[in-house]
Amino acid sequence: MPGKIILEMRHICKKFPGVVALDDVDFQLYEGEVHVLLGENGAGKSTLIKIISGAYSKSSGAMILEGIPADIQSPGHALELGIGTIYQELNLVSQLTVAENIFLGREPVNKLGIIDSRQVIRNARNVLAALKVEIDPQARVVDLGIAQQQIVEILKAISMQMKILILDEPTSALTRQEIEKLFDTIRQLKEKGVGIIYISHRIEEIFEIGDRVTVLRDGRVVRTSSIDAVDSSDLIRLMVARELKEHFPKRKAMIGAEALRVEHLTRTDVLDDINFALQKGEILGITGLMGSGRTELARAIFGVDGIDSGNIYVNGKKWVIDSPRKAIEAGLGYMTEDRKLQGLILKLSVSKNISLPSLDRVSNLGIIMTDSEQQLAKRYIQELQIKTTGPDQLVQSLSGGNQQKVVIAKWLACQSDIFIFDEPTRGIDVAAKVEIYQLMNQLVARGASIIMISSELPEVIGMSDRILVMCHGRINGEFDPSNILQEELLKCGLGI
Ligand SMILES: Nc1ncnc2c1ncn2[C@@H]1O[C@H](COP(=O)(O)OP(=O)(O)OP(=O)(O)O)[C@@H](O)[C@H]1O
Ligand SMILES: [Mg+2]
Repeated sequence: MPGKIILEMRHICKKFPGVVALDDVDFQLYEGEVHVLLGENGAGKSTLIKIISGAYSKSSGAMILEGIPADIQSPGHALELGIGTIYQELNLVSQLTVAENIFLGREPVNKLGIIDSRQVIRNARNVLAALKVEIDPQARVVDLGIAQQQIVEILKAISMQMKILILDEPTSALTRQEIEKLFDTIRQLKEKGVGIIYISHRIEEIFEIGDRVTVLRDGRVVRTSSIDAVDSSDLIRLMVARELKEHFPKRKAMIGAEALRVEHLTRTDVLDDINFALQKGEILGITGLMGSGRTELARAIFGVDGIDSGNIYVNGKKWVIDSPRKAIEAGLGYMTEDRKLQGLILKLSVSKNISLPSLDRVSNLGIIMTDSEQQLAKRYIQELQIKTTGPDQLVQSLSGGNQQKVVIAKWLACQSDIFIFDEPTRGIDVAAKVEIYQLMNQLVARGASIIMISSELPEVIGMSDRILVMCHGRINGEFDPSNILQEELLKCGLGI
């Protein structure tokens, strides 16, 4: 193992009302290593790093930083001590520019003590160039896609030259090329002796970048090991305490009549003459590169963005879907790719979030019936195994993956029969992924239809009945998943 221990956590406990999030956790971080934290949704990964980064205080235990006991009081204090963190939920100021965000709070000043905005932009250019990232430093964060926002967040932390860098699921929204750039940077930081704590649900990735791994289960450490000493099935077994037989438990449903048809759908510069049909009982996978128009297509069908021309038919009937409300009325449900912003109200409870789009069902003469709301929530908490203390827990205090399940519950409660799932398993642990796939199976077995937008090619191949590949706002190919290789989908997505 390289270098010396820079951080040691001893006997850490963290209790929240009704949950023990961390129970007697020991953890060490060496200089120049990537230490991966692995565990199911709700296992306690984010809680542990939030304690290290000063966002949460520990209930008990000790933290030793470079040999000295440290009592970290706040995120600002952690930064002063050289601990930088990229949280699972993005933390940018959306109205500021990329450059302003990267240097927020440490802006260079001129002789008069006034922020030198030209210097801010120049510095940002250097940071962007060092990572070979093509983002305009003067663009406002609100105008960037989530992948780009995530990169800005990463650049911000890297530019602070920390001794310890913590990354909580940094790659969940990144493309393969972006991930490679990030990994290059991580390797450079390692060489400089930076200790890196890395959380990811992508097991392949862990073998690529990790040196050691600590697996958490229900708030306890089940194992810390060198990466070389374990394989992926060991890790999965440690995480979920059982063998996962099938990673893609696809069951073919009876394919029925047409549920949705899209004809000549066009939105200038974004979508170009899109035509396809979706049958009852079908899972239609849509893949393509970031920016190929997949999410834009979903938004257009769901009435979020207007269209310039084209028609949408639901169950053979033409619908003018000019708002999400209209889409819900037509029987559509849309699970957005950016759940934090569009899918959930973090400050409301689990039950309120679940019943939000289906208020008609739980209200009587406009008065929301708390009882039926609670019943509805309880049912889905059970069905989707949402890890929560109960329907009244605020969504913001759920773990990332469990927040995701709440979004799914919300659309299930709505009794939609055409679902658009945009990256449904992003940020979800391996076992919960299988639960979501099984749920998709159940939905189509009941005659529902699903459009599954995904960048995870194994998932697209493993779970779809048919695959469409988008490229530059067009559908560039249609494939049968039973005899297709990932490479062919990639090529089609690149337009070559
Ligand atoms: N602020 C909070 N208030 C109450 N409970 C919380 C709070 N933060 C986390 N928890 C609970 O602590 C447990 C661990 O959550 P944590 O966010 O650490 O999980 P995680 O391992 O990061 O999961 P994921 O992979 O889903 O992000 C969960 O049961 C969660 O609901
Ligand atoms: Mg987490």
